[in-house]
Amino acid sequence: MSVRGRFEGRVALVTGGARGIGFAAAQRIASEGGRLALADIDGAAAAEAATTLPGAIGIACNITREDDVQAMVAHAESELGPVDIFVNSAAVLDDKLFLESSPADWERMMSVCLHGPMLGLRTVLPGMVDRGYGRVVCLASDSARIGQARLSYYAAAKAGVIALMKSVAQEVGRSGVTLNVVSPGATNTPLRINREESMRAQMGEEKYARRVQSVLKLYPTGRIGEPEDIAAAIAFLCSDEASWVTGQVLSVNGGFVMP
Ligand SMILES: NC(=O)c1ccc[n+]([C@@H]2O[C@H](COP(=O)([O-])OP(=O)(O)OC[C@H]3O[C@@H](n4cnc5c(N)ncnc54)[C@H](O)[C@@H]3O)[C@@H](O)[C@H]2O)c1
Repeated sequence: MSVRGRFEGRVALVTGGARGIGFAAAQRIASEGGRLALADIDGAAAAEAATTLPGAIGIACNITREDDVQAMVAHAESELGPVDIFVNSAAVLDDKLFLESSPADWERMMSVCLHGPMLGLRTVLPGMVDRGYGRVVCLASDSARIGQARLSYYAAAKAGVIALMKSVAQEVGRSGVTLNVVSPGATNTPLRINREESMRAQMGEEKYARRVQSVLKLYPTGRIGEPEDIAAAIAFLCSDEASWVTGQVLSVNGGFVMP
C-alpha cells in the first residue's frame, strides 16, 4: 500500500483540531487522502483551519458537553459520512502546585481532559463497532507516566485517559476497532508556547534562558518536538497498517523519558 493514499475514503474527526497537534494530525491525514472534520471550542478557528484542507469542515464543539459532542458527531457524519478515525487532541493545561490548586481547578481539568474524551468515545464507538472498523487515538502526556511537578491534576486526568483506552481496547478488540494513546514530550504548539511565555515573564530573561538550556539537556535528541513529529505517530496508529496495535501508549518525546 502506498503511504500517500493511506487515508483514501476515510473520514477523520479531530477534536482540538483548530491548532497545534490536532491540526498537524489533520493536515497529515488530509495529505494522505482523508476527509476531515476539525472540531474545537474555538469554532471560528476550526472553520478557518478547515479552509486550508481540501473538503474539510470546521465544527464548534465544547467536548465537555454531551449535547455538543453528539451534535459534533452528527454534523461530521451528515457532511462527510461515518467517522472511521477519531483523534482526541483537545485539552487544557494548568501550571500550578497541587497545594495551590482547588477542587474547581481539578473539576475543569477532569471535565476537559478525561470526561471529554469519554463522551467522544461513547458517541463514535458504537458506529465503529457496528461497521467493524475504527481507529481511535487519544493524546496523553508523559507526565501521566512519570509524574510532573506543577502538572499533578493534568497528569492524573491523562493517566485516566490511558487506563480508559487500554480497558476499552480490551472490550472491543475483536471488532476491528483499535484504541491507542500518543504521549508527546514538550512540543512547540500554542499550549506549550503560552506556558513558556508566562514562565519567561515570571523568571526574567536570564533565568528563563538558563531554563531553556536545562530543558534541552533532558532531550537526548537535543530539541523540542514539532507538531509534525507527533502527527506522524498519530497517522501511523490511524492507518490500516496499525491493525494489530491496540491498547498501547506510544511516547513521542525525543527520548525525554523511556518508560
Ligand atoms: N504541546 C505539548 O508540549 C504537549 C505535551 C504533552 C501532551 N500534549 C497533549 O497534546 C494534545 C494537543 O495539545 P496542543 O499542544 O496541540 O494544545 P493546543 O492548546 O495548541 O491545542 C488544543 C486545542 O484544544 C482546544 N480545546 C480546549 N478545550 C476544549 C474543549 N473543551 N472543547 C473543544 N476543544 C477544546 C483549544 O481551543 C485548542 O485549539 C493535548 O491533549 C495535550 O494535552 C501536548
